[in-house]
Parts: sequence; C-alpha cells; structure tokens
Amino acid sequence: MSINILQTHAWQQLEQHFDTLKNERMVDFFAEDKERACKFSLTAAGLLLDYSKNRITSDTLKLLCDLAESVNLKHHIEDLFTGKPVNNTEDRPALHTLLRDPSNNKEITETLHQMELFINSIYQGEWLGHTGKPITDIVNIGIGGSDLGPRLMCDALKTYQQNHVRVHFVANIDGTDIFNILRQLTPETTLFIIASKSFTTIETLTNAETAKKWLLHSIPDKTAIKHHFVAVSAKPERAVDFGIAEDNVFAFWDWVGGRFSLWSAIGLPIALAIGMENFKQLLHGAHAMDCHFREAPLEKNMPVLLALISIWYINFFHCAAQAIIPYDENLALLPNYLQQLDMESNGKSVDKDGDDIFYETAPIIWGGVGSNGQHAFHQLLHQSRRIIPVDFIIAIHNSHPYPQQHELLYYNCVAQSQALLFGLSKEQAFCDLFAENLPDEPARQLAKHKAIPGNKPSNTLVLDKLSPQSLGALIALYEHKVFVQGIIWQINSFDQYGVELGKHLAKSLQHVNKTDSLNSSTQQLLDLLKKQ
Ligand code: F6P
Repeated sequence: MSINILQTHAWQQLEQHFDTLKNERMVDFFAEDKERACKFSLTAAGLLLDYSKNRITSDTLKLLCDLAESVNLKHHIEDLFTGKPVNNTEDRPALHTLLRDPSNNKEITETLHQMELFINSIYQGEWLGHTGKPITDIVNIGIGGSDLGPRLMCDALKTYQQNHVRVHFVANIDGTDIFNILRQLTPETTLFIIASKSFTTIETLTNAETAKKWLLHSIPDKTAIKHHFVAVSAKPERAVDFGIAEDNVFAFWDWVGGRFSLWSAIGLPIALAIGMENFKQLLHGAHAMDCHFREAPLEKNMPVLLALISIWYINFFHCAAQAIIPYDENLALLPNYLQQLDMESNGKSVDKDGDDIFYETAPIIWGGVGSNGQHAFHQLLHQSRRIIPVDFIIAIHNSHPYPQQHELLYYNCVAQSQALLFGLSKEQAFCDLFAENLPDEPARQLAKHKAIPGNKPSNTLVLDKLSPQSLGALIALYEHKVFVQGIIWQINSFDQYGVELGKHLAKSLQHVNKTDSLNSSTQQLLDLLKKQ
C-alpha cells in the first residue's frame, strides 16, 4: 500500500522548515560556517560530491532523511538488491545491480563469456563476413535504452578505444539516420547488432529490415545474414524469427529494465569499442557505487543525498527543471542519457497503487557541456527568475595532452558555481562600472542590467579522471538517485506506459481513411502527406 507522503510528519516539518529557510542566502551559510564545504561533501566509489552550494542547512538534511525513513527507504533498497518485484505493475524485479556484481549468477557469467569470445573473434579477424573479409564496422541498431547507454559510453570513453573496429549507432525511424551511416560503409565488412529488449520496437525493426536489404542488395544470398547480423534481446526467439542465427543472439532478461540495460549484453558495442577488460571496469565502478548505496547510512549516502536535495527543490521550491552540465566534451551525451533515465522512470502522476498523486515528480532534465553553455543558456541560469538546480561534473585529470586547457576548463566550472552562489549586487556592478570611468547616471542604469541575483543552487561532482570505472560509478549514482526519488514519491520507477499511446497512434494513423472521424488538425496534417 502506498503512503500519502503529504500526510507524513516529516513532510509537514519540511514545509514549516521551508518557510523559515526560503529567503535565506547561501553566502550567509558559508560566512557563518567555515567548515561548510567539508561538512557538506562526501566521497564514494571514487567520486566526490560537493553539495555545500545548496539552499540547505543541517536541519534540512536531517528532515529530508526523516522523510526517507518515513517511507522505509532502507527496506526498499534491500528489496531492489534482493530481487523483490519492485516493478509492481509488471510484477518483476529490477536487478541491474546483479549484472555488475562479480559474484553474479551463472547466466550472467555465461553471457559475459559469450561476449568475450565474440569480441576476440572480431578483434583477431576470425569472424569473417560472407565474402571472407574481416569486419571493420559495427552498427548498433536500437533505440531508447538499447541505444542511449552504449552511445554515451562509446562517446565518453573514446580515449579507451581499442581501434579494432569502428562502432556506429542508428536509432531514429527517420531514414536519414541509417542512410548517413550506411553511405560510409561497405556491406562485406559491416556487422549489425540488432539491440532490442522486446524485439518489437518499430524503429529498430524497420532499421534492421533496411540494413538487411542493404546487405542483400550487395550480397544477394540469404545465408550472408548469419555473418553480418547478431542480436541482443530478452526475446531471442523473435530475433531468430527475424532471420538471425540462434548462436548469434545474446540474451538478457526481463528483470533488466531497458534504461538500466547497458550493463548487460546491450553493452556489446561498448565492449567492442573499449575492450572487454575496460567493460568489466565499468561494471566494477558501478558495483562500487552499489555497495556504497546499499551499506552507507542515509545521511552519508551519495545517491540518497542527491535524491533528497533534488526533492527539496522540486517539491518545496517548486523548481521544474534540473540542469546537467558536464565540463567534459566526452560527456556531451550525458544530459540525453539522464533524460531517459530520470524522465522515463519518474515522469508519473499516479502512485504504485494507481491513485493520483498531488505533488510534482521528475524534473525536466536538460543541459549541455561547459564551457560552451556559458556562451548560451547559462544566461537564463544566472539572471532569469527561475531556480534551476545544476549538477556540474568535472574530472581532476585531463584525458588529452593539453593540461593548461584543462586547468582553464576546471576554473571555468568552479567559477560558474561561484557565480550562481554569489551573483553580483547592483551596488557592486555600479562600483565596477564607475571604476571603469563610466559617468554616474549611465553606470547606475547599466548596473541594473548587470546585477545577478545569485543564491542559485548547484552540486559539483568531481571524478579523478574520466575512466570506465568512474563513469560506471557516476551512472550507478544517478540510477540510484532516480530509484530513491521513486520510493519517496511512491511511484513505480520501472514501467513506462506513458510512451505507449504515441506508438499505437503512429501505427493506426498509417491505416486511417477518409471516413474515420479524426480531429481537423490531424486530418489536415495527414492530407498534406497523402497529397504527395
Ligand atoms: O518506448 C520506450 C522503450 O520501451 C524504452 O523503455 C526502451 O528502452 C526502448 O523503448 C527500446 O525498447 P526495446 O529495447 O524493447 O526495443
């Protein structure tokens, strides 16, 4: 049975606490307590989280932890790890943590072994295309969870690439996507991975058919398929029906959610790009975060704190959005990845029992890399009336040969959190302008435009270096954050029924005819296509 969290003592205490704290300024917190940064920082699984630049006090954290206690969070964490059916609407567990547990079960170990054999045969040129040539290019065809995780990891871990094969990604039903990839490739040396948990996803199956035709156009022999197609699916029989050889199917299981699946054989393109050893390091990093999440007390638990602080902004400050700003070109895809993880998991408005809830859930996740954003959307972060909490992510060590540029990047990242915290008062802006010899009145006028309110919250997550291990820990951190929020909000974070309606409509619109009573807008838009 779901709990009405609005009725809990902890929630009501937080509401009262919010009234006393909402106008307080973080600069005063820092002035009053020289140890604040140290007190409000935490290390886990090789990551440092500095959460001191938030509109919180020790009392806030205590009350937020009380809220977590009131929903019995620790008990739910155990349920997650021990395979209880936490995905209640689909009556199944969500055991992505098992995939990265070194003492994992036989099926997982066997799949890892199958991946390893496959990768070795590709690397050593033993896996040959139909005409006897080694594979040079791999194309992963998948969408959502069967695309975003592998795509992020391959992009983020470029410096770990083994350079045996090139890995490409196709997701969109828009033919431009696959066209742009295929035009660069040679059928004889290309291998496709059809990645789909359900093996029913229209985008993936359509692109897979296009790929099949492209191959058979050049090699008109159906037996070529077994040399150029493998699949990753929780429904292996459907992959076989599609024409993929049984031995070329890598299994995963119903209890791995799509958006939590990069740790399974869905990670095959990652392992192909960075090698199996590095893929295992990714699993180790995530496992280290899992252990921390399972064992650390709530008040020293990184995913829990990240989740609770974010709830503070969403449900008490009523912030609608959360910005993810990695100061790392290699993490450019992180905001996209976290969009699916967070918004597909927690973008819900009924609780686990199907009853309406009357509080906000997942924020709108958006963002982009620094320092680029500083010359674009940061304007809104600094000067709009909105409060958009930011997660900055940066590594101490650079992954390129230009240390000076890395230093500048690091300073820029820290400067942004500092600017959000302090802002710039009108008085200070005036003094600066006056010092630049601007006459009094124009200086006063311009100072109004230059003033920045400050008191805008941010977290900073510091990695030692962007590596398979640190990235594994980072992604596991966000996975658990999302889980904790789902528990507090009393929702099932593991289903995604909201995306179904659009899929059904897209299918049915293909078969619509004049006599069907559609609304005039939809009809008009369809007519435009039919006129062609
Ligand atoms: O449409 C949503 C979704 O089901 C995601 O949850 C999932 O990651 C994606 O589509 C792809 O699904 P599949 O792996 O079954 O093709």
